[in-house]
Amino acid sequence: METIIAYNRVAKEVIESLKKDYNVHYFKENESIDNPVFLKALKKAVGIIGLEFKGKEDILKHAPHLKIIANVSVGYDNLDIPVLNKRAILATNTPDTLTETTADAIFGIMLATARRIPELHNFLMAGKWDNYLKHDQFGVDLHHKTVGIIGMGNIGKALAKRCALGFDMNVIYYNRSRKEDAEILYNATFTELDELLKTSDFICLMLPATPETKHIIGKREFDLMKQSAIYINGSRGINNDETALYEALKNNDILAAGIDVYEKEPVDKNSPLLTLDNLVALPHIGPATIENELSMSKRAEQNLRASLNNKTPIDLINPEVLD
Ligand code: GLV
Repeated sequence: METIIAYNRVAKEVIESLKKDYNVHYFKENESIDNPVFLKALKKAVGIIGLEFKGKEDILKHAPHLKIIANVSVGYDNLDIPVLNKRAILATNTPDTLTETTADAIFGIMLATARRIPELHNFLMAGKWDNYLKHDQFGVDLHHKTVGIIGMGNIGKALAKRCALGFDMNVIYYNRSRKEDAEILYNATFTELDELLKTSDFICLMLPATPETKHIIGKREFDLMKQSAIYINGSRGINNDETALYEALKNNDILAAGIDVYEKEPVDKNSPLLTLDNLVALPHIGPATIENELSMSKRAEQNLRASLNNKTPIDLINPEVLD
């Protein structure tokens, strides 16, 4: 039987299914070549399935038989695509499956931040609710406000749907190309980035991490936002400058932020961000539901099996390898 490495986050059902046809080595944590057991499996592996396998040259040179890395994620910033191309390794992700789940989480973070839900929960649990809620503990409304979505991909659209159809919000967006479906379905208006930053009540960063999007939101962009603005990042931490975010929140240049992603994950326990009262910080919960783990893992399994059976996987990221 050929060897497969399952990595970090793969649903149990999928591991069991793969075991019927492959010799599966499951590693629970992020492993490196410092682990001899991992290295031994890597030397034989024809496929890797999982979350956040760091597919870069230093590790791939220990995987001479590897044909496919099937990410259990939509993001693939963990992979060095030119190196995979050079080594003729296919890469796949799991788009679509997590769209609604992640949009739910991001919308939840918007609500939690606007209505200060975690803070007021902690207040009550600490036994401090002994009189009417004070005015300075009030939140702000979402309904009928303007949300600016930066990046109108699938998750951006699913968020726009919740905002427009569920909460009567005015949706504006910035994207490399116009998205007419979002304009028709959710009455979304295409807006230049600076204009979006200046006019939105909620700014949601929804871009993948690429060299072009690194720190797309930094000091200049926070300065453009309204003082009453709420900033949400559920995409990738590297897309915003965390120092500039900290300063903007600390100086009350914006009202609050809700963050699910960090430049380094897990976030440093001593990060100054974690000292702020006007930040709702979550540990990358976007796709993390029981149902979604299973559907993402199944989709990754389909991609893995297709590649190993010499078929083109549906979610192939680097078709250039096939040439
Ligand atoms: C989640 O962040 C993903 O990329 O799947």
